[in-house]
Amino acid sequence: MTVAPTKAPAYDRSDWASAFRNVGQELNELHLPVSRGSLPAELQGVLYRNGPGRLERGGQWVHHPFDGDGMITALRLQGGTAQLSNRFVRTEGWLAEEKAGKVLFRGVFGSQKPGGVLANAFDLRLKNIANTGVVRLGDDLLALWEAAEPHALDPDSLETRGLCRLDGVLKPGDAFSAHPRFDPGHHGSKRMVTFGVKTGPRSTLRLMEFAVEDEPETGIKAGQLLSERRDSFNGFAFLHDFAITPNWAVFLQNAINFNPLPFVMGRKGAAQCLESKAGGQAKFWLVPRESGTFAGQPPKIIDAPEGFVFHHLNAWEEGDEVVIDSIYYTDFPSIGPDVDFRQVDFELIPEGLLERCRINPTKGTIQSQRLSGRCCEFAMVNPAQVGLEARYAWMAVAEREQGNDPLQAIKKLDLKSGARHIWSAAPRGFVSEPVMVARPGATSEDDGWVLCLVWNGARCASDLVILNADDLSEQAVLELPLAVPHGLHGSWVSSD
Ligand code: CO
Repeated sequence: MTVAPTKAPAYDRSDWASAFRNVGQELNELHLPVSRGSLPAELQGVLYRNGPGRLERGGQWVHHPFDGDGMITALRLQGGTAQLSNRFVRTEGWLAEEKAGKVLFRGVFGSQKPGGVLANAFDLRLKNIANTGVVRLGDDLLALWEAAEPHALDPDSLETRGLCRLDGVLKPGDAFSAHPRFDPGHHGSKRMVTFGVKTGPRSTLRLMEFAVEDEPETGIKAGQLLSERRDSFNGFAFLHDFAITPNWAVFLQNAINFNPLPFVMGRKGAAQCLESKAGGQAKFWLVPRESGTFAGQPPKIIDAPEGFVFHHLNAWEEGDEVVIDSIYYTDFPSIGPDVDFRQVDFELIPEGLLERCRINPTKGTIQSQRLSGRCCEFAMVNPAQVGLEARYAWMAVAEREQGNDPLQAIKKLDLKSGARHIWSAAPRGFVSEPVMVARPGATSEDDGWVLCLVWNGARCASDLVILNADDLSEQAVLELPLAVPHGLHGSWVSSD
């Protein structure tokens, strides 16, 4: 369905805000009927989603939903049927607060403990809330939160096994990104490439590559660390995401400052102490992958265009050049200390726009180009095209063609021709990150499905919407007996 652009926002704020709530139940393999359409028999596996499931405790709300405790939702599709499970990650902080019945920790995005500034000053503990990403690695499902170690869960029961140090790869408290990239096999076998960053006046980046499948010929086990390198860079680095090509890991060091004083003094959360650096220069860091042509060489550092990026779509190599598509904001979007996040004025926050940067690492030059003027977030390509030039991208977008609004539609963009398809959940639906799943044995890049959890404001609950990836026609809608708050990242684990 293609929807004509509208000038005014097409949603009711209370529908959007009604998704911010506590999840009060944990379901276990509940059979789900299909409300409309049918489940494709070939679509077999589990869609895992992560995001904040607890936003209030003892009458006190989080300051920002990113401070909510991680809850995993699992939708298992098998033989044309569906099952739903959901479970909070049993983090140390969640367990302690469940027992106490009140907030005991500050949040990175500005949530404070009760008792005002005095109660918060000098409490610099981080509560690992495990709420950002979820991926399968070896026998574990990992609930990811970038400032510390992942939590390992049982992939079937979702029971928390505990903090995970990946067989000694991580030391207690080590940062581990919530945005691993899965190399589909550029160097023979699949890899999970990820990073951790220790930041300060200088920043140290640790790039890690893990096996994702057992390799009987070599004795390599899924989840085993295959290579790593560490590089140091000047300046503070806020790195949430990155991209890979066969030869490079590509990072964007945003031009932002971190002034920790208001955090230390108990007035702000750590992430509220980030601000754009006036006249600052963003940098691309191209770090050679150990499996590639430039292994062992130092990183290339190149000046990047102005703007702020959380998420990248994809990167690839074209001759000597590295091309990367990213979602750019004109400034770091944050919620000030005195603003209720449910009352946030979308007009005052910059929107994310898809832009392409063509980097020449030898000459140190960059050309940039806007790919779309429509507010977007959470973009992905077919997983087989990660690190290669992709023809298509799928992303969450606003209903309006211009301006900043909540995400209500899914867009498929032809990156070559600019042609697009839209599926819209407006006016009462709000989308989360779309996950593209290729049809087994597919021969075209857009053959498969797009899976998306949609907040249904009319029901005050979530729907699983399955679209055909090529034209975004509706394949199936499953109305969940569960209200999942607006979430963050997810992944698909195929059952074969
Ligand atoms: Co993210």
